[in-house]
Amino acid sequence: MRDTLPQDHSLDSSLDLMTEGYSFIMNRVKRYNTNLFEGRLLGERVIYMHGHDAARLFYDTDKFQRKGAAPKRIQKSLFGVNAIQTMDNGSHLHRKLLFMSLLTPSHQHRLAELVSEQWLASAAQWEREDSIMLFEEAKALLCRVACGWAGVPLPEEEVRARAEDFYDMVDAFGAVGPRHWKGRRARTKTEAWIRKMIEDVRAGHLQVDRESALGRIAYYRDEHDQPLDDHMAAIELINILRPIVAIATFITFSALALYEYPVWRDKLASGGPEEREMFAQEVRRYYPFAPFLGARAKQDFVWKDVAFEEGRLVLLDIYGMHHDPDIWEQPDVFDPERFRNGNEDPYRLIPQGGGDPAQGHRCPGEGVTVEVMKASLDFLVNRIEYDLPEQDLSYPLNRMPTFPGSGFIMNNIRLRR
Ligand code: HEM
Repeated sequence: MRDTLPQDHSLDSSLDLMTEGYSFIMNRVKRYNTNLFEGRLLGERVIYMHGHDAARLFYDTDKFQRKGAAPKRIQKSLFGVNAIQTMDNGSHLHRKLLFMSLLTPSHQHRLAELVSEQWLASAAQWEREDSIMLFEEAKALLCRVACGWAGVPLPEEEVRARAEDFYDMVDAFGAVGPRHWKGRRARTKTEAWIRKMIEDVRAGHLQVDRESALGRIAYYRDEHDQPLDDHMAAIELINILRPIVAIATFITFSALALYEYPVWRDKLASGGPEEREMFAQEVRRYYPFAPFLGARAKQDFVWKDVAFEEGRLVLLDIYGMHHDPDIWEQPDVFDPERFRNGNEDPYRLIPQGGGDPAQGHRCPGEGVTVEVMKASLDFLVNRIEYDLPEQDLSYPLNRMPTFPGSGFIMNNIRLRR
């Protein structure tokens, strides 16, 4: 057994984590020449993990649990308190089945179809405007589509404000101060809105398609044949709506990639769904979104000569793994061709978690994410023409989450007829 795990020297890594952001773990992996090191975060000892084997270990549910891993500040902004992200064992798997059954390939294609229709309708309006900000437009569009698909009534005049609230919960995850509090207020407001809807459905005041996400969650019964309480039902419905709105980030990065790598714009124009899929996967690898994941050791065990004590907090790197030359050839080159033959290894490309989504915590929404990205790429490449004014397209790695500063402003937009 190793006597000492490489220690991150600072007394507490919290400040370094905030200032280095997405690169924090990878910087130390390089500095200490190790895939495992120990540090302190908000006063607590943490083992930081990086690498393919570490990802595989992280998803071993005999070794790690999620209960107690997500800090309350993340639950009160991003996830919702005591939601699926914090569950373990049989009750997690039962709840997970609900999500998986709402996000099947037929739902993925329906959502992508709705997204394509909405892009065309939006573009017809944009032709009359001087300029638009893609990030803002994508959030509003995805909020409209997500709610319509889920059976959630949403008057058009409320779409943009609700979209902002959904995104503000996401925008809070790496923040302290005002951005964090904005996310908490957005969550309080959104939970009250959706909870009222759940109550109305259950009281018979709101008619709902029982197969819609709203209907399925309102009438879901857990492994003990119990319904979710109104509040938890609202939290879990938000766990479907909010991340659909968050796909706006990957759509905006897709537009940036088309601009930064114009040869791919041509390849997508002459290619088909396979090229769009490869491109979407490379966007998910190359650009930053989720930085890392947390769990706690379920029991004492030793792995690679390192002792993990029961209850030890571990953080698994995501962004750094996607830019590690030991895992990806020329990781800092944007090259969708690396996905030409698919993406079989469940622990290598992990922007939305790793392993098997039905057996662990991997995101159940990856299919939706990729299909919505593909529909949006088709729109950006084949359905419209546009120009880009001078703007700030940089995305700081010390802001979590990050996105191109200007939000990707487009002008002189023309629909191809
Ligand atoms: C879990 C990222 C889109 C629903 C996760 C996790 C990540 C993630 C990193 C945690 C994995 C883990 O803990 O092991 C993303 C990103 C998205 C996205 C970057 C792009 C916008 C979606 C979509 C949906 C969704 C579109 C649903 C429509 C969920 C749910 C969980 C989850 C319910 C919790 C799963 C569990 O705890 O078992 N996502 N996701 N996500 N995601 Fe996504």
